[in-house]
Amino acid sequence: MKPLKISSTASAPCKVILFGEHFVVYGKPAILAAIDKRIHVNVSIRNDTKFVINNKDIHDEISISNIIESNYKHDKLSYPIFLTAYNTLRGFDSRVGLDIKIDSQVPFGSGLGTSAAVSAALIASISNLFGSFNKHQIFLQTLEAEKLIHATPSGADPAITVTGGVIMFRKTKEPDMLIMPLEYNDLRLIIIYSGENRITGDIVNNVKRIREDNPKLFEMFANKNEEITLDAVQALRNKDYNSLGSLMLRNHELLKSLGVSTRRLDEIVEKAMQNGALGAKMTGAGGGGSVIAIAEDENRLLNTFQEYYAFIANIDKDGVRVE
Ligand code: MEV
Repeated sequence: MKPLKISSTASAPCKVILFGEHFVVYGKPAILAAIDKRIHVNVSIRNDTKFVINNKDIHDEISISNIIESNYKHDKLSYPIFLTAYNTLRGFDSRVGLDIKIDSQVPFGSGLGTSAAVSAALIASISNLFGSFNKHQIFLQTLEAEKLIHATPSGADPAITVTGGVIMFRKTKEPDMLIMPLEYNDLRLIIIYSGENRITGDIVNNVKRIREDNPKLFEMFANKNEEITLDAVQALRNKDYNSLGSLMLRNHELLKSLGVSTRRLDEIVEKAMQNGALGAKMTGAGGGGSVIAIAEDENRLLNTFQEYYAFIANIDKDGVRVE
């Protein structure tokens, strides 16, 4: 198929997991929120058959024939991006070369869903070159892209970056997933990035090992997590931020017991609680990344964490969109 445009931009929101990370991989429910920090991806057609990324964080290029011939796989940040671009173009029966510009409003590796947001924005941007934009297709392809990052993604990150808002997510039998939009009223979050980077796939694999070694204990944690998550749906609906805060703390304790928190994440949670937070927890895969908190006096918390990359986040309602 011939592209209808020579250039296109799309963007997708980053996210936080409010409740249920890791257990969601094993079929338990999770609550996720899209935040008003986006990743923009611009693609423009080149007059050769190369993919080139050249921006602040990533500089890399590859010719499309190399992707096809060499069973392309390496551990650079650009690998899932190039392969996702290739697969998306293949869906349109096209082999054009692309300049790919990525602009993120949060640091990569901060545990805020940057990988799914890059994939969703890239897929939407390329699809838009051919005049088509279908959120369901973008979700399915973003899920495939996430499999390049770790082998067993729940699908929660692709779901929230595509839909926006706040959702309850449950993996049933792939490709079936339950995605339920939740009321979020005036929910706002304080997000504090620990500055510790981690590799999601490694942490997910550690949890897999823990589950295999201690199935009973894991089951107990997973059931507690489910209880907390379902109570949180009610608390969110009732704008009961005191209860929501306590549930966040309980979820953090569970994740700590699972071994995915770090000393620094625990310290940030503690410090947030000492400075007026109603609740706080690590978010995402853990092993670093970010802490989320809710508070009545948000500015007090921001001042507390001046030495960190910290910000107040509102909920993004759009999800992935063409710009
Ligand atoms: C990563 O953002 C969330 C995890 O639950 C993995 C997943 O859901 O695929 C750790």
